[in-house]
Amino acid sequence: MFPLQRGRRLRTNESIRSLVRETIVTPQDFMFPMFIAEGTNVQEAIPSMPGMFRRSVDLTVKEVKELYALGIRAVNIYVKVSDHLKDNAGTEAWNPNGLMQTAIKAIKDACPQMIVMPDVALDPYSIYGHDGIIENGVVVNDPTVDALTKMSVSHAEAGADFVAPSDMMDGRILRMREALDQSGFTNVGIMSYSAKYASAFYGPFRDALDSAPKADMEIPKDKKTYQMDYANRIEAVKEALYDVEEGADILMVKPGIAYLDIVREVKDAVNVPVAVYQVSGEYAMVKAASERGWLDHDQIMMEQLTCIKRAGASIISTYFAKDAALLLNK
Ligand code: PBG
Repeated sequence: MFPLQRGRRLRTNESIRSLVRETIVTPQDFMFPMFIAEGTNVQEAIPSMPGMFRRSVDLTVKEVKELYALGIRAVNIYVKVSDHLKDNAGTEAWNPNGLMQTAIKAIKDACPQMIVMPDVALDPYSIYGHDGIIENGVVVNDPTVDALTKMSVSHAEAGADFVAPSDMMDGRILRMREALDQSGFTNVGIMSYSAKYASAFYGPFRDALDSAPKADMEIPKDKKTYQMDYANRIEAVKEALYDVEEGADILMVKPGIAYLDIVREVKDAVNVPVAVYQVSGEYAMVKAASERGWLDHDQIMMEQLTCIKRAGASIISTYFAKDAALLLNK
């Protein structure tokens, strides 16, 4: 009998395909990254991220309610900090009345069921555009960890459900867990960006926050002394295991599509949920190619989201969250 196995039987029509489908993406899988600006009634388009905006807190809150109604249950928040508030130590980052803290409070007041995960890193607050404090031209680890720890406690005080350190300093999860517990925030979780690579895919994000390392200063021009080398796999597992040991509740791998081997590797190595960040450059590429009519936007979007989940992601942080939720709810 030839052929013995006919794999095509299970692909005959959409009904049988849907019966054997292994991976289904839903709006509850998504986190939506949001950029916050000072002021009221402000909505500024981000040119390298079509469809994405920097919004003031009032308009952000409106948007959050819409996202919740679409089935989205978590937001990552990032702030655009005014230049006059920036310094080397990032002191504005733990100002109880800062933009981030104000945004967290407003979102939790208006939509208590939405999980709020503020970004913990110094780059939007740094005059140098680095994720840590610079001494003698070097991003110093331990003083940066102290600053990030203060920052995360201040996010918890504002009402954050989780803190999401994206800085890649060593030992920060342990210090944050201790400080949160000592301050009474035993129920505030930590989503650690464990395997975050030094990637050119972050370009549009740095446009959005004006947070790129400053070209005209005597400082490192890239983040390669703390973010990982994209040629490496083993150290992703090492970082993941350390973070779980130090108390992380969720691990993040970033970027997404080009790093799905890392997602699977980390997923198989740990017993906590793995999140994947489909980053700004990935979003920009799909938007640009589909604007030109070279790719089908919705099909590419759903293919990428499904493949990220298939690789092992329990959660996908994606700028497509709203587009995809609208499509899935149709
Ligand atoms: C900063 C931070 C970055 C991103 C998330 N948090 C930029 C960077 O590390 O330079 C990138 C996200 C994206 O590109 O969508 N700590």
